[in-house]
Amino acid sequence: MLSRLKTRFLIFWIMVASGLVTLISGLILWFAPRGAHSREAILYGLQKSTWLDIHPYFALLAVGMVAIHLVDKWRCLKVYLRSPLRKESLSQVKEIKCEIQM
Ligand code: HEM
Repeated sequence: MLSRLKTRFLIFWIMVASGLVTLISGLILWFAPRGAHSREAILYGLQKSTWLDIHPYFALLAVGMVAIHLVDKWRCLKVYLRSPLRKESLSQVKEIKCEIQM
């Protein structure tokens, strides 16, 4: 079994890596040729059709990892979302609870 810290480490790096692949493949597709037969065009060593396959899967993975990350950091997120709106602002108790959860 992975420790809590190792699991979070894994979630973090999968989130960063899949986010980067999504961004890079998205940028490549953005500047890729369009129109008839463009799917066969070779872009950075891969066919456009391969980039089109890669992009949505990594995007889904990235979105999933962000969702897991937000659930995992829910306590801190609640502090960040509430603080500017409430008078008590950054309550120390909530801040400490959030820090301990890290
Ligand atoms: C979480 C974020 C993203 C999701 C869920 C997502 C999802 C998708 C999906 C499902 C497609 C259709 C693929 C296909 O036709 O088979 C697509 C196409 C595309 N995406 Fe994304 N994408 C994301 C981020 C980005 C980013 C950051 C960029 C640009 C920097 C980008 C640029 C593009 C382009 C240019 C296409 C069109 C390719 C084409 O049909 O010629 N995407 N995306």
